[in-house]
Amino acid sequence: MSELYQSAFNYATEFLGYANDSPIQVGDEAREGLKHLDIALPCAGTAALTVIDELNQWFSPATMKMGSPRFFGFVIGGSYPVSVASNWLGTAWDQNTGLEKTTPAAAMLEKVSARWMLNILGLPKESATAFVTGATVANFTALAAARNQVFKQAGWDVESDGLIGAPEVQIIISEDSHPTVYKSLGMLGFGRNRVTKAVVDEQGRIDMTQFPQIEDNAIIITQAGNINSGAFDPIGEISKLAESKKAWVHVDGAFGLWAQASPEYKHLSKGIELADSWATDAHKWLNVPYDSGLAFVKNKHALKAAMAITASYLPSENAERNPSDYTPELSRRARGIDVYAVLRYLGTDGVAELIERCCACAKRFGELFIAAGYEVMNEVVLNQVVVCFGSEEVNLKIMDVIQKEGTTWIGQTMWHGRLAARISVSNWQTDFAAVDESFEVINKVARQVLAS
Ligand SMILES: Cc1ncc(COP(=O)(O)O)c(C=O)c1O
Repeated sequence: MSELYQSAFNYATEFLGYANDSPIQVGDEAREGLKHLDIALPCAGTAALTVIDELNQWFSPATMKMGSPRFFGFVIGGSYPVSVASNWLGTAWDQNTGLEKTTPAAAMLEKVSARWMLNILGLPKESATAFVTGATVANFTALAAARNQVFKQAGWDVESDGLIGAPEVQIIISEDSHPTVYKSLGMLGFGRNRVTKAVVDEQGRIDMTQFPQIEDNAIIITQAGNINSGAFDPIGEISKLAESKKAWVHVDGAFGLWAQASPEYKHLSKGIELADSWATDAHKWLNVPYDSGLAFVKNKHALKAAMAITASYLPSENAERNPSDYTPELSRRARGIDVYAVLRYLGTDGVAELIERCCACAKRFGELFIAAGYEVMNEVVLNQVVVCFGSEEVNLKIMDVIQKEGTTWIGQTMWHGRLAARISVSNWQTDFAAVDESFEVINKVARQVLAS
């Protein structure tokens, strides 16, 4: 066995050693090579060492180097080495993280990580935390708690009686919400279209002068960190408005919630602690490996009512915190390990430094683009930059050439009805040198395309 593990370790460390210096985008040859893995399953097995050799040979070269300090597509982040290492250990430990009684270490680390997270994000201490796969499921989980509570207030037990014949619920959602929030609404039976949209301003923030009338039994879904501009809805103001109607306020803070960890950027999310639930990702800005998202719910009972299960064979009596009481899954990976490892490694100062460095890098991008005469379409308040080089055709051409060149990677977006390039800075390795190196390539390509 040790030869097998050693071989996987060698391949993994070799990959991590060259990944930063390799072209980011997957080349045609590497894509072509993947066909060696696409075979009919033979009757006879294959030696484990050979399986690992083959995976390394064909998969490694075909990886998009998303962990590169110069990868700015999506808000993705990389993985701190400490969390790659903790993830390996977590796999070796292979704990089925459902119950405290059977996996006490995994349950305990979740409890501690949850406490640290609430502290670092400045959220109410009494909130329950769910360790889920990502922000999509974190939104789903938190909104399931919202559904439970809002129907309970209306005298309806939605967990037992479902939605058929249930009282009306109003869902108010920012018109610039992430598509995965609509997906969560669909999965919860609310429907993706039965929503009241809150109008946003030019930065994608909910415009309070046009905020819809809040009805009885309402759930209001806000955003901390617009996916294009990085702007924040006025969550404190909305939460105060929601109080009189006992409406539930949820925050999709997939990446923006992390502003709370920085003394310099905390003002952006002012009043966020007044909401009822929050969703974020650890696999984005905290830079832990996939998959790792977190849902926080102030009303612990609402979350447990929506998520907990009981079965005669599950030993849950006297447990202080059974992880599965808070998540859609019963059996799952011990996600708290990697969150614990990175937080322990960075401390609160280290997390603040990470957030502030990424935001400073985004600001630098913005300044470099403006100085070079390009149009920066958003106020660069956080880690997001939307830049437009010219017509749709020009933008697409520039992005295509940049991606093929391989030094850096930026993706496309639609902002105010125009196609533009979007830069998201969230990698633990990104610094001014990475920004300058990337900008040099982007500028050179843009000049060439514009001149052609
Ligand atoms: C604002 C926002 N919400 C939700 C999501 C979904 O997150 P995940 O892909 O981790 O499920 C994203 C992902 O980019 C996001 O930016």
